[in-house]
Amino acid sequence: MDKETIEKYKKAGKIAAQVLDYGRGLIKKDSSLLEVTEKIEKKIFELNAKPAFPVQFSMDHLAAHFCPEDDDKQIFSNQVVCLDVGVHIDGYIGDNALTVDLSGKYSDLVKSSREALDEAIKVVKVGAALGEIGKVIHNAIVKYGYSPVRNLSGHGLDQFVQHTKPSIPNFDTHDTSKIGQGMVFAIEPFASTGAGIVQDSGTASVYVLINKKPVRSPITREVLKEIESYEGLPFAKRWLTKKFGAKANFGLIELLQKNIIKGYNPLADTSKGIVSQAEHSLLIDNDGEVIITTKLD
Ligand code: CO
Repeated sequence: MDKETIEKYKKAGKIAAQVLDYGRGLIKKDSSLLEVTEKIEKKIFELNAKPAFPVQFSMDHLAAHFCPEDDDKQIFSNQVVCLDVGVHIDGYIGDNALTVDLSGKYSDLVKSSREALDEAIKVVKVGAALGEIGKVIHNAIVKYGYSPVRNLSGHGLDQFVQHTKPSIPNFDTHDTSKIGQGMVFAIEPFASTGAGIVQDSGTASVYVLINKKPVRSPITREVLKEIESYEGLPFAKRWLTKKFGAKANFGLIELLQKNIIKGYNPLADTSKGIVSQAEHSLLIDNDGEVIITTKLD
C-alpha cells in the first residue's frame, strides 16, 4: 500500500473518531434524533471529509441500518443508543461506533462490546486467524452473560467500498484465513441481551447503488445523478428528500423497481434483546504494524 493511501486512511480515521466523539456528547435524553443526526453529518463536512454512509443510530433492540427520515419526530429516552459513524477522504474510509446507555441499566452490556473490541484488537497481527479473533470477541461478551450478534460482523474496507472481504466474525467460525499486510478492516462486536441474531425490521431509509442502468423519467434521472455522486457508498433517503422534496420518493421507487438501488432494512435482535456495539477501523501497514485509524489521541 502506498504512503499516500495510508495517510488518507489515517486522516479519514481521525476525523471519524472526532466526529464520533462529538456525536457522543449530543446523545442526551429529550434531544431530537433527527437534529442530532444532522449535526453530526454537518460536522463531517466541516472537517473536510464526507460521510461514508449516513450517520446511524440504533436504539435498544435495533442493531444497525436505522437512519431517520426528514420528518422523524423521535427523541432520545431511556434507551441504549448505538452510534455508527463512517467518513471518507477520496473514498478511503474510517468506520467507528460506540454505545451510550441512557437507561442506566445496561452499563455492563456497553462494557462487554467495548471490552470485546479491545481484546480483539490485542490479538490482531499478521498471521492471526479470523476465527480466532471471533473467538476472543465471543468470549469477552459471554463472560458478561450476553450473546455476541452472530450474523453481523466486522468487514474489510476499500476505496469507495464500505463492506468487502475479509469478514471479521463475532464468534469462532473456525475461519483459518489470516490477517496480512496491507489489509484495512473494521472490527465491530455487537452484544445482545437476547438471541444474538438480527433480522430485518421496518422499512429502509438507507440505500445503495447496485446497478448502473439508464432511466427515462427526468425526475428519476435527476435523483440518480445525485446518487451517482455518492460513488457507490450508502446514502440516506433524507439526503434526497431534502434536495428534491417529495419527488425524490418517486425517483427512489422507480430505481428500486428497476433494481438500480437496493435498500438496507433496519436490523433488530430477533428476540427483542437490547444491543450494544463498539467499532474501530484498523490498517496493517507494509511492515505489519497494526494501526488503529479511528483512535482519538
Ligand atoms: Co462497520
